[in-house]
Amino acid sequence: MISLDFISFQQHKDLSKYEDKKEKIKDLLTNSHEMLDWYDIDKCITEEEIIKIETLSETIRKECDVFLVIGIGGSFLGAKAVIEALGTYFTSNKPEIIFAGNNLSEEYLNKLLDYIRDKNVVLNVISKSGDTLETKIAFNILYKFIKSKYNQEEIKKRIIVTTDATNGSLRWFANENNLVSLNIPKQIGGRFSVLTTVGLLPIAVAGYNIRKLLSGARKNNYDSAFKYACVRDYLYNHGKVVESFTYYEPKLSSFSEWLKQLFGESQGKNKKGILPISCFNTQDLHSLGQFYQDGNPIIFETIIGLKQKGILPSSINNYMVSDINSLAVEKVAQAHLLAGIDSNIIYLDSLNEENLGELIYFFELAAAIGGYLLDVNPFDQPGVNEYKRLLNEALK
Ligand code: PA5
Repeated sequence: MISLDFISFQQHKDLSKYEDKKEKIKDLLTNSHEMLDWYDIDKCITEEEIIKIETLSETIRKECDVFLVIGIGGSFLGAKAVIEALGTYFTSNKPEIIFAGNNLSEEYLNKLLDYIRDKNVVLNVISKSGDTLETKIAFNILYKFIKSKYNQEEIKKRIIVTTDATNGSLRWFANENNLVSLNIPKQIGGRFSVLTTVGLLPIAVAGYNIRKLLSGARKNNYDSAFKYACVRDYLYNHGKVVESFTYYEPKLSSFSEWLKQLFGESQGKNKKGILPISCFNTQDLHSLGQFYQDGNPIIFETIIGLKQKGILPSSINNYMVSDINSLAVEKVAQAHLLAGIDSNIIYLDSLNEENLGELIYFFELAAAIGGYLLDVNPFDQPGVNEYKRLLNEALK
């Protein structure tokens, strides 16, 4: 279960001017069609696709050592966020999930080739457009590796292509080579695609229950998401132009990366928007903490807190370590409020599939609603396209 606490650590705000927008925006989400299929979980993924993913992932889990996920932006961040949040700290599961294509480091790719040389590898290349440079480069290199290692029949079992059903060079490549492929729904953009084939195959291969993830998402907390979006919009209109996604559990590091993409790419346009940053406490209390408490007060925080049962008593007055971590969430928020820094707190009672599904969908709703409140299109990314165009031109 997740719970949202918008009021404890904020100065009083009058959100009444937003009231008449609540039903209008809900109508937009329900009745418009452009890039909104993520709003209806049944349009994210069909039962047939869930079964295909479950069957594929079962075979992959039995047979492979390393599952390579090649993609960038929305084509990998959501899966990485969920896998890391549900994973362990010090041991790697089998199969090990490794991400590539999300950077242009030659050394990374080179070391990756060394690392997987003698391992049993399956590769999932993910790109909606099929034309993203970073993904293409990593896939070209890793495809050559797969071809040098396995015969034609084996290759067909070792490459899974996740892309548009009809368009793009990756779709052409998959059809031409008779490869196993999964379709990305046409009306869902990258950063809203974690609950589609894009995120669900890697998550299932990592051993997590995708049905529970989807059932969490179906809870559809529209009212809470709307309130959170209004609080953000209000703060933005009162000079708070930076939102810190603050977490107190190291497993949420990639989740905060996904949040940065979701909000940054959905709302940062037309010279408007809140800059999303992330903060890992209590580590960053000893670095960014100084700025939050005492620096330019342009920030507000959205905190993801965990209400976990304690395991380890600390040496401090017999408090459990987890209780001290929870107390830190509250006391830091109180301290920041004294400096005029507001906080929204979202508590999870544990890190499990259902809670993460609910949280993902909550933030997707908030990002879309926030885009409408800001009067920008939350579903395009003209700024990202611009660098792609220039880099591709330079490479011609
Ligand atoms: O949210 C988005 O649409 C982007 O971040 C894309 O996910 C990213 O640019 C990768 O695009 P593609 O899946 O087409 O390779």
